[in-house]
Amino acid sequence: MSTPRRYHITTFGCQMNKADSERMAGILEDLGYIWSEEANDADLVLYNTCTIRDNAEQKVYSYLGRQAERKRQQPDLTLIVAGCVAQQEGESLLRRVPELDLVMGPQHANRLADLLTQVEAGSQVVATEEVEIAEDITQPRRDSTITAWVNVIYGCNERCTYCVVPNVRGREQSREPAAIRAEIEQLAAQGYREITLLGQNIDAYGRDLPGSTPEGRHLHTLTDLLYYVHDVPGIERIRFATSHPRYFTERLIRACAELPKVCEYFHIPFQSGDNDVLKAMARGYTVERYLRIVEQIREIIPDAAISADAIVAFPGETEEQFENTLKLVEQVGFDLVNTAAYSPRPGTPAANAPDQLSEEVKQDRLQRLNHLVAQMAADRSQRYLGRTEEVLIEATNPRNPQQVMGRTRTNRLVFCDGTIAQLEGQLVPVRITETRAFSLTGQILSPVAAGC
Ligand code: SAH
Ligand code: SF4
Ligand code: F3S
Repeated sequence: MSTPRRYHITTFGCQMNKADSERMAGILEDLGYIWSEEANDADLVLYNTCTIRDNAEQKVYSYLGRQAERKRQQPDLTLIVAGCVAQQEGESLLRRVPELDLVMGPQHANRLADLLTQVEAGSQVVATEEVEIAEDITQPRRDSTITAWVNVIYGCNERCTYCVVPNVRGREQSREPAAIRAEIEQLAAQGYREITLLGQNIDAYGRDLPGSTPEGRHLHTLTDLLYYVHDVPGIERIRFATSHPRYFTERLIRACAELPKVCEYFHIPFQSGDNDVLKAMARGYTVERYLRIVEQIREIIPDAAISADAIVAFPGETEEQFENTLKLVEQVGFDLVNTAAYSPRPGTPAANAPDQLSEEVKQDRLQRLNHLVAQMAADRSQRYLGRTEEVLIEATNPRNPQQVMGRTRTNRLVFCDGTIAQLEGQLVPVRITETRAFSLTGQILSPVAAGC
């Protein structure tokens, strides 16, 4: 009997890529492959790539260089580039790295088995054409046994002038509500407690769907979907990301307030705190509109956490415009902001703007913004001190084996003493004793309080 082939996947980029990698891992395991932690010990190496910023893309090339060299010694190594760099570069990746067997865009993730058959027949394969994304019938190999991603809409129809995502992820394609619910039911049956519904612009969910569920219900919005999947027994928490300020609705906030499993946490990128920059980005909303959303959230769910993404040093951004971003961050008091310096991306309008800013300006603004974000996050963390929070225990603290870690409903990371064997997947009340900008420490009030 031959020894099974071993596979390794390294994933770059966002949650969509993580979810795709889990599905591709499931497909490979169905084909009899077994996981190898080390890329260098694997017979099949797959890089699931990201091209959101130039440094994300460059990282892939350095990893790939090492594997290409290995392949020259070990010709039966299968080398695959999947994800967003694959989609962006297509054929030209083969010229750059001729050792590659397969270049596959994100829309082809569920077709990995077919594509490998073509590779085994001896061809180099490039799969980047726009396709209807097939419903996936394979069990993903999920990284966690407690929390799971569930894609609800693929692609993005927006055209933010800095962003490569619409080029590499294609047009919006919503999954049928019944298929989403079936996946969640299956997750519950496997013991998962928390799900995160995923989409690049999740508020667009359902716009492209023709009709209704088999039960004849019309489900055309994310809010409808939340009501539809909310009562799956066993699932205790539901999250969703990413929200777009242009489409965000009060109805959605009300649903979060009304549905007990939907967590009080909103991720709503604002990108810039200046109306002219927002216009140049083609974001389709104003700072005033963004602030109204925040106000509505705080009115309906006062303790909700709000996080966002922001870009500094967009082409032509003046010091004053940048300061408007600082002002917005200060005014809102975000729980977390993911920040980035603008990076020109191929095929996007902003990359051709004449007034690109220097690396010095980018780094200076990024540091100033990060400093403020950490300060605001620390302020927001303070409010948990002395409170008792419901925490879903997910894993051992990698830095301290005496501790476990989990998240509050508002998505704050919490560490507390305990062992994972006893606590994994439990919802426990934790009294918060220490706060830091991005995490908390606390004590579990009752050792095992299942379903508290
Ligand atoms: N769909 C989400 C974000 C997807 S990309 C939204 O509309 O907000 C994730 C984040 O990467 C973006 O929110 C943005 O802050 C950042 N990003 C995207 N393109 C970028 C670029 N060219 N340079 C720097 N950051 C970028
Ligand atoms: Fe990119 Fe804009 Fe789409 Fe978000 S909404 S993925 S930033 S184009
Ligand atoms: Fe990156 Fe593609 Fe996600 S470019 S951020 S992996 S959609």
